[in-house]
Amino acid sequence: MAVTAPSPASPFAPGNDAAYARWRDRKLAQRARTPADLVVEVRDPRELSAAERDEIVRRCRRDNMAIYASRVTDEDKAVPRRLGAQLGLATLDTNFLADEDGITSIAVSGAKAGAGFIPYTTHRIRWHTDGYYNPPGLRIRAMLLHCVRDAASGGDTALLDHEIAYILLRDDDPGHAAALMQADALSIPARVDDEGVARPEAVGPVFSIEPGTGDLHMRYTARTRSVAWKDDGPTAAAAARLLQILDGESGCVLRTRLLPGMGLVCNNVLHERSAFQDAPGRERLLYRARYVERIAGTERAWE
Ligand SMILES: [Fe+2]
Repeated sequence: MAVTAPSPASPFAPGNDAAYARWRDRKLAQRARTPADLVVEVRDPRELSAAERDEIVRRCRRDNMAIYASRVTDEDKAVPRRLGAQLGLATLDTNFLADEDGITSIAVSGAKAGAGFIPYTTHRIRWHTDGYYNPPGLRIRAMLLHCVRDAASGGDTALLDHEIAYILLRDDDPGHAAALMQADALSIPARVDDEGVARPEAVGPVFSIEPGTGDLHMRYTARTRSVAWKDDGPTAAAAARLLQILDGESGCVLRTRLLPGMGLVCNNVLHERSAFQDAPGRERLLYRARYVERIAGTERAWE
């Protein structure tokens, strides 16, 4: 598989130590310390004011994510669709479980839950980035979640900026970052994915550098079944360290709960969902949209 040469100035390029050190120090100094640092109050995500949009994009440049808080709790998929459009997100990754407009309702109901596809059950969803089973040519660069109703209990969201994960790994051992940039680091065998879609085998890197902009992309799942890591020492060590970071006490994981009217806007950062319980009249419903584009205005934030 061809690996595109990274932008020579990108701090993510292995061996680019001076650029990395400069970017790293600034990133760690500025990063969100608490979920509250990510939150932007908005009147209506379907019609952001220029100031609301600027605040969202500013956080996405800094942390690759923002959380908006609104009072809009209608069952209206125009919320994620119109929000996405205002952030330069146009190309939805559609699958057959998404409704016709390409925006997926994540809830425990219907055949998908009955068939045991994890997002549609009450189970925990372990750390991942969206679309890790997509072919390398179909990267998911941005993802939106909008909460219509939260669960009666649980259903919390844990978040980690994938650039911070990269820093923690590279600081621990530059070999970890290099191992996870190998073009055959992580293979997902041909299978029916978590959402019931038949997929061909997908072989690719965990970390990759976007041609042109030098931005970092991450493709990851913490699942252990139906996943094949490259069978060498450096890859195994890096994968083990990454899981330790995600489940450990780095102090960089942000844990929160999306309440009705709130949502996550992100450049497909690492995320995890805890198990939850519904109650009659209190059935969790989130809308999810996945996009090929990155959030407009967040390119080359490393410069
Ligand atoms: Fe996800």
